[in-house]
Amino acid sequence: MPVNDNESTETRHIKIFDTTLRDGEQSPGASMNLNEKLEVAQMLVELGVDVIEAGFPIASPGDFEAVREIAQTVRGATICGLARCAEKDIDRAWEALKGAPQPRIHVFLATSAIHRQFKLKMTTDEIVERAIAGVTRAANVCDDVEFSPEDAARTEPDFLCRVVEAAITAGATTINIPDTVGYTTPTEFHARIKMLIDRVPNIDKAVISVHCHDDLGMAVANSLAGVQAGAGQVECTINGIGERAGNCSLEEVVMALRTRSDFYKVDTRINTQRLVPASRLVSSTTGMSVQRNKAIVGRNAFAHESGIHQDGMLKEPTTYEIIRPEDVGFAKTDLVLGKHSGRAALADRARQLGFQLTGEQLQVVFERFKALADKKKEIYDGDITALIQQQISGN
Ligand code: KIV
Ligand code: ZN
Repeated sequence: MPVNDNESTETRHIKIFDTTLRDGEQSPGASMNLNEKLEVAQMLVELGVDVIEAGFPIASPGDFEAVREIAQTVRGATICGLARCAEKDIDRAWEALKGAPQPRIHVFLATSAIHRQFKLKMTTDEIVERAIAGVTRAANVCDDVEFSPEDAARTEPDFLCRVVEAAITAGATTINIPDTVGYTTPTEFHARIKMLIDRVPNIDKAVISVHCHDDLGMAVANSLAGVQAGAGQVECTINGIGERAGNCSLEEVVMALRTRSDFYKVDTRINTQRLVPASRLVSSTTGMSVQRNKAIVGRNAFAHESGIHQDGMLKEPTTYEIIRPEDVGFAKTDLVLGKHSGRAALADRARQLGFQLTGEQLQVVFERFKALADKKKEIYDGDITALIQQQISGN
């Protein structure tokens, strides 16, 4: 496995594994019906994700049906279904997935001491045995098998290495390292991925994946640290939806990798111009709104209100923007006119609205605009037009 700790000059490809339809749908209130799931899956293909985790087939008849339908009809990405390390789960997942040209079975089993003791009531030997049995059963029917030691970020390092090695020997082709409860930090997670690369003898037989939750707001940072340490796949969701505080946000991690490709030296297959339409589709389908200041896809992500920023933007957009809005699917930068705005932005808007103001006219309109902006949260083009017309007609 080529490890990319900033020293390599080669560009590595990072697979984007989207789990909006599985972990994302586990957000309270985010459930989707079959047609909605098909629409989202189709959009994920247009976006260029490598893997679509379409659901957890044993979880419900609806989940089974959705995974089967997506496997049979959606083309252009690997279709994945989740299963516990249990025969009935794996068989049900395969039943749903077998119509896909590129199916993947994703088996998981918790490995941390807390989960072993309280949830599973199993010893370490029993965990290894069950992981091997699960991966083997999946690998008997499907060439592409992903194994996740659930709560890997809190699992004892020696035991994690033992389970990962056993899973690869049993046939896992991707090893996913989940930070199930969003507990880790970037430095710690980087060290964990590096430890697996350094200590697991057969690690080069599998792609390392990272799957981070956002309980401490670090899912994207932790995923990036995993990539920096050598992970070749990132698991994420559109708008970062998912259990509790959610998962790593696809649009944020993809744009961080792209904007800072000088640092990470990786690329993805994502057609970034589809990010905003994808965000809007998932938001309207799930009913989960996107906060205004959300990075990349929020309404304010490319909106500038302060006069100094607007003046800089009008002179040279890179003064205050590190991404071109059109590169993520926005029409253009939004110079919002409000109480912090300056003359330059007002003059620019007046020009766009078809008015050529003299310096004197601009000064009067600017003063009236500031007085209005103190009273109103947002100033619309209609307000500006009215102020200008008032000035021109001598009122
Ligand atoms: O967060 C988690 O551990 C998961 C696993 C099923 C991969 O979602
Ligand atoms: Zn998860």
